[in-house]
Amino acid sequence: MSEPEGSRKYGEIVRLALERGFFMPSCEIYGDAPAGFWDYGPLGVDLKRKFIEFWRRELVKRDGMLEIDGSQVLSKKVFQASGHLESFVDPIAKCEQCRAIYRLDKLIEEKTGIHVPERMNLEEMKRLIEEHDIKCGKCGGKLIDLSHFNMMFRLGVGVIGADAYLRPETCQNIFIDFLRIHKTMRRNLPFAIAQVGKSFRNEISPRQGLLRMREFYQAEIEVFFNPKKANEFPKADPMMDYELRLKPLGRDETIEITCKEALDSGLISSRLIAYYLSLIQQFYEKAGISREKIRLRQLGDDEKAFYAVEAWDLEVETSLGWIELVACNNRGGHDLGGHQRFSGHEMEVLDDGEKVLPHVFELSMGVDRSIYCILENALDLEGGKPVLRLPPHFAPIEVAVLPLLSKEPFTSKAREIYEMLKLDFDVEYDESGSIGRRYLRFDEVGVPICITIDHQTLEDDTVTLRFRDSSMQLRVDLGELAETIKNHLG
Ligand code: GLY
Repeated sequence: MSEPEGSRKYGEIVRLALERGFFMPSCEIYGDAPAGFWDYGPLGVDLKRKFIEFWRRELVKRDGMLEIDGSQVLSKKVFQASGHLESFVDPIAKCEQCRAIYRLDKLIEEKTGIHVPERMNLEEMKRLIEEHDIKCGKCGGKLIDLSHFNMMFRLGVGVIGADAYLRPETCQNIFIDFLRIHKTMRRNLPFAIAQVGKSFRNEISPRQGLLRMREFYQAEIEVFFNPKKANEFPKADPMMDYELRLKPLGRDETIEITCKEALDSGLISSRLIAYYLSLIQQFYEKAGISREKIRLRQLGDDEKAFYAVEAWDLEVETSLGWIELVACNNRGGHDLGGHQRFSGHEMEVLDDGEKVLPHVFELSMGVDRSIYCILENALDLEGGKPVLRLPPHFAPIEVAVLPLLSKEPFTSKAREIYEMLKLDFDVEYDESGSIGRRYLRFDEVGVPICITIDHQTLEDDTVTLRFRDSSMQLRVDLGELAETIKNHLG
């Protein structure tokens, strides 16, 4: 896709979001609104709810996972144990003259085109700044005070203001609750715990709407397993012929390779990981993203998060480039090991009579980013007027009820039909403007079915169903209306 077309799509999503109630900047009526915080409007809330329900059905339920809902404020010790206090940092520098603050790795990359790995030290970055004469972009001043900035939001709890933090990833609740859940839910290894909720990161430069926020939704899955048995995983058997789209380290292209081949060639380290990578790729295929726009990119040592021993990012191609939607990390024994050391609670559990410290494989999904990708993927600008071709199960409004004319008796009849449907479907009633304009308005927000109440309705209790994607029209008896809608929505 050409660049202008790409930015056009992004611009169009932002316009739709703002004008039609998907999302908007938080505190937008105030001049001191901090960047990186967004509110979901009514249509955005419905889309997010449906996306999360889809996640629950296709991952949590399909795999028999357990779900928890933990608190967002966690104690300092949690993050000492997890390593976030020390390692969840970004490099920054300040302009000596105008005091502007820069995220150093991104600035160097922007100015030199050189990739700055996650683990490059400050000395090396200082050398690059000098060598390439990188200065403040605003005033040309010298960059000084190179340091690391911790991205967690610190809080003071209670009157004494005890140190605590807003969680930067939801999964820490899962690790600290692991022992109790293992005991109360009587699960044997391997098993997974899932959670959806807010996380908070004090990003230095939040940008691109839902793509880099300071407060955001994650849907995380943490799979606990015995590291000696990651290959004893019968659930993976039916996946062996499934073709993963992998972009291995050092390769420029994406390859299609079956799970079996990926395992035999050593690209993927275990059947358990092959299974969960397949599950997450299938999730986005079922969400309506075409296969060629999905890839699992293997991360090198210099790109992996500090807790990961093996990492694949599920990425989706958009008009803005490839966007990471799910971090698929083998976290090894990092988390339970850390919490065992710092809390003094033994995290080892019995597996077939043997005591083991479970290892963790995670599927850490960015919900807001996924929603952006689903919106962009659905947006069709081909015909001049935007049409949001959302899969019916994501449509915030499933059915629009439209009287042909905004006068009696059409309006009363339409309201009667709206009342009849509103508890079973997400329905909106609209009588304002010409019927043609109303169709376009509902196409724009992805409504799959419009129902028109016209002259014939008043005579024989039938209505016209107009389908968004085919523009086909169907005459249906009111007695069969609910069933017909249900069949179409699937
Ligand atoms: N839990 C991994 C992440 O937040 O990226």
